[in-house]
Amino acid sequence: MALGRLLHGDPQATTPGITIGPARAYEALGTLFFGGRRRRVFSGLVALSGARPGDRVLDVGCGPGYLTRLVAAAVAPDGSTVGIDPSPTVIEYARRKNRNAHCSFALGTAEALDARDGSFDVVVSSLMLHHLPAKLQPTALGEMFRVLRPGGRLLVADFRPPRSRIGRHLVGALAGPAMEHNPVNLLDGLIGEAGFTVHARGDIHPWLRYVQASRPEASASDAAGAAR
Ligand SMILES: C[S@@+](CC[C@H](N)C(=O)[O-])C[C@H]1O[C@@H](n2cnc3c(N)ncnc32)[C@H](O)[C@@H]1O
Repeated sequence: MALGRLLHGDPQATTPGITIGPARAYEALGTLFFGGRRRRVFSGLVALSGARPGDRVLDVGCGPGYLTRLVAAAVAPDGSTVGIDPSPTVIEYARRKNRNAHCSFALGTAEALDARDGSFDVVVSSLMLHHLPAKLQPTALGEMFRVLRPGGRLLVADFRPPRSRIGRHLVGALAGPAMEHNPVNLLDGLIGEAGFTVHARGDIHPWLRYVQASRPEASASDAAGAAR
């Protein structure tokens, strides 16, 4: 059995996604997994997200909220950040760790976001998509598109399997096949198909592939339609 399964939570009625259960163990493993570079890696994601003071940010599949808290600091003092995740244990943990009045956490799923159309300036999501069945991933990205305002920015990061066969086998043994075979090279295609304009993609050492994108500004015909 892959050790990663020990981190899985109870199945949730709200989603077929694989949730995280023991939040503290996930945090400890995260620190180990990034070999002391976790702060640098996640601060890099915040910078790539383009989140600025005053922005409204959504973190989809926030887990225990490490990235959410970092991005909340970047949009302070007037911005706001919400992290959502279907796992009650990680949301409870994230709420306990949170000290920022403009940062909050809620139960929710990527495939049915409980948010109004166009209500965020920035959406971020890290290491979440491979937790969803492949057929739900386009739905989740479509939801991220819907809740971003026109011109709003998206940053998605996911696990990039090692290039060596031995490295991939090791990941498979420790974390399971979803990570061993994560088709991260398909990410920018999926994001483009959801309607986003992809601006950049790249790797962050040691484990992440990221894609930066934005929701196109409303066209003149969209604006006319909205006014009718
Ligand atoms: C590997 S963790 C990543 C957590 C955090 N974003 C990070 O970078 O450390 C994946 C997260 O996705 C969540 N998840 C699973 N199914 C989901 C869904 N349908 N919608 C949103 N999040 C989901 C899990 O509960 C888990 O917290």
